[in-house]
Amino acid sequence: MRRKLAAGNWKMNGTSADLAQIEALATAHTGALSEILIAPPTTLLHRAADIAKNGPITFGAQDCHKRESGAHTGDVSAAMLLDAGATYVILGHSERRADHDEHDEDVRAKARAALAAGLRVIICMGEELEEREADNTLDIIGGQLAGSIPDDVSGENLVVAYEPIWAIGTGKVPSVAQISEVHNFIRARLEQRFGPKIARAIRLLYGGSVKPTNAAEIFAIANVDGALVGGASLKADDFSPIINALDAS
Ligand code: 13P
Repeated sequence: MRRKLAAGNWKMNGTSADLAQIEALATAHTGALSEILIAPPTTLLHRAADIAKNGPITFGAQDCHKRESGAHTGDVSAAMLLDAGATYVILGHSERRADHDEHDEDVRAKARAALAAGLRVIICMGEELEEREADNTLDIIGGQLAGSIPDDVSGENLVVAYEPIWAIGTGKVPSVAQISEVHNFIRARLEQRFGPKIARAIRLLYGGSVKPTNAAEIFAIANVDGALVGGASLKADDFSPIINALDAS
């Protein structure tokens, strides 16, 4: 059985004052059935992991460099993130693909570095609205899946997040049928590539405008093993009901 995963991506939000949200979450979900993950900004990672030590929350980063160390001003390596308390790193988020011109091969190289350092990776993929309207969604996802995921993954160290770009931060959510089609497609492609044993252990997250009001409906979809949540993960009062909905699913 795949353990459900409620992941919060704080993006470029949060200063020390917001660590209180993590404390509140940790207290509220001591007995959570689902795995809970927060990816705060890198500046808060160490303190967040320290505050929530021995609690139900695991921590992740939002990017890493593809090299182990060296002359890369401003960058952070996978080993540094692990040292700061991360167990996961989110890679290939559409905002990084757009803002930093990251392509599938960059994501794959970063994923290799992260896995080599002992981090688990959450690899993101998703289509633009025009691509969906042109009926190209599965081609786009198939390409990103093939290009971004390295060969040497296990069911435990890889999570795939489907995040349609047009649903991120917009309040628009794909229909149940649309989410279902893409998640089933991802599972089938993973099976072709890695075989059924590994593919069935890989968790598939949906991301894009997940809220307390729509979480239960999304979590009821087969092959949705949790969510990657942006805006609604910033406040414990918003993220808690999403975690509860996942626990109940
Ligand atoms: P929102 O939940 O704010 O739409 O963001 C989704 C996302 O990009 C998570 O990585």
